[in-house]
Amino acid sequence: MTVQNYLELESLFNISLRTQLEMIANFHEEMKRGLAGKKSSLKMLPAFIWPPSGEEQGEYLAIDFGGTNFRVMSVKLLGQGKISKPIAHNYKISTSVMRGAREDLGNFIVDSVLDFMQKEKIDPQFRVKIGLTFSFPMKQLDIRSGILINWTKDFAVADVVGTDVVDLVESAFFDNGFHQIKVGAILNDTVGTFCKGRYTHPNCSLGVIAGTGTNASYSEKISNIKKSPQLSTKTDEMLINIEWCGFNLFPRNHYDRAVDKLSQNKGEQFFEKAVSALYLGTLTSLVVNSFVATNKFSHHMKILEKDKFFTAEELSLVLAYSDKNLHWLRMTLVDKGIQTTQADRILIKKIAELVFSRSAKFLATLIVATVTKNDPELKRRHTVAIDGSLYEKAHGYKGMVQMEIDLLTLRKEGEINLFVCKDGSGVGAAIVNAVAFS
Ligand code: BGC
Repeated sequence: MTVQNYLELESLFNISLRTQLEMIANFHEEMKRGLAGKKSSLKMLPAFIWPPSGEEQGEYLAIDFGGTNFRVMSVKLLGQGKISKPIAHNYKISTSVMRGAREDLGNFIVDSVLDFMQKEKIDPQFRVKIGLTFSFPMKQLDIRSGILINWTKDFAVADVVGTDVVDLVESAFFDNGFHQIKVGAILNDTVGTFCKGRYTHPNCSLGVIAGTGTNASYSEKISNIKKSPQLSTKTDEMLINIEWCGFNLFPRNHYDRAVDKLSQNKGEQFFEKAVSALYLGTLTSLVVNSFVATNKFSHHMKILEKDKFFTAEELSLVLAYSDKNLHWLRMTLVDKGIQTTQADRILIKKIAELVFSRSAKFLATLIVATVTKNDPELKRRHTVAIDGSLYEKAHGYKGMVQMEIDLLTLRKEGEINLFVCKDGSGVGAAIVNAVAFS
């Protein structure tokens, strides 16, 4: 199916207030079903950790696996909500690690950690308990175990699904002769972001990732986690990794379905495919291609082949540059072997704006939905910690999300307040480690 004109496209990507309110109601239902262990598009995974107090102290080694880069960092928690600037190194995750053998993943983690230790003059013979952020859905039975449910975001390492990731990492260190390096805690990146958010902002109610993928964690009363009545923690709360990336009760159009068909994990992660950076470039490119097919562009414009699809980073720059001639976009397309007129470029920019603003609107809707699950009338102020390249870097995105939240809640600005939680997923691993052992 092709779209006849821009107005038709606009109506495909426009989300009405009514739709947003329906999404919120559906999301609340799905949260309850997930917590009760019933069939739901939200996994609602107990994280076996509770919110930090902000007083935890100590120096920890943290590793963060699950985005574009693998990060190794050393983090010092100072108490009173203060954290010194982490020392961090990035290691690029190659496609052969992302889709390779289990042993290769283990060796990649060991090599990167040893490289970090060498650079930062940390003796690898020390007894260390690492905080491990692993940004995929895991079934946990305690803070030191995480059984991978499925891969997402184009990762597909063999023989890991259904196994404990802590075993994978500890055996890799053991096999390389470092039996004293252990994992102290394993956590999802949203749990890390929540914990860093709460450590520094006592009224933080939600940790969100909006980057390559998207997801969120919040703190739930143990009595509401009906599927695991035997849970015990030091407080009466436990963090829940929602896995909202899988939410599916929202309107999807035929472009969303086409993105799904092209993805590694067909039929899954529908919300993520409409919102996160990994998919926004494909989505925009598919719309552009349907406009090329129906001659909405000048005769110069060509179909974008898959290896020439826009990336979210490119589009973010397209949105950022507002010169009349859209020179940057012209050069980006020249690099892809395509000539354009100014009118072509204006249309491409408009398409990207529609795709990115729908993403921001969807994200805002689920933020409001999560916060209002336990505070339906918004009786208190909420702070939301967000980490991830899309939120942090995409031009105008932060403002759009906050504006949509303010519109939806019809409250004074600041009732639900967002802040960039830099390094939340990595630093959070150090905090979770500290909470687990305090
Ligand atoms: C994963 C989540 C993760 C999110 C953000 C999703 O694909 O399923 O576990 O939190 O990406 O990294």
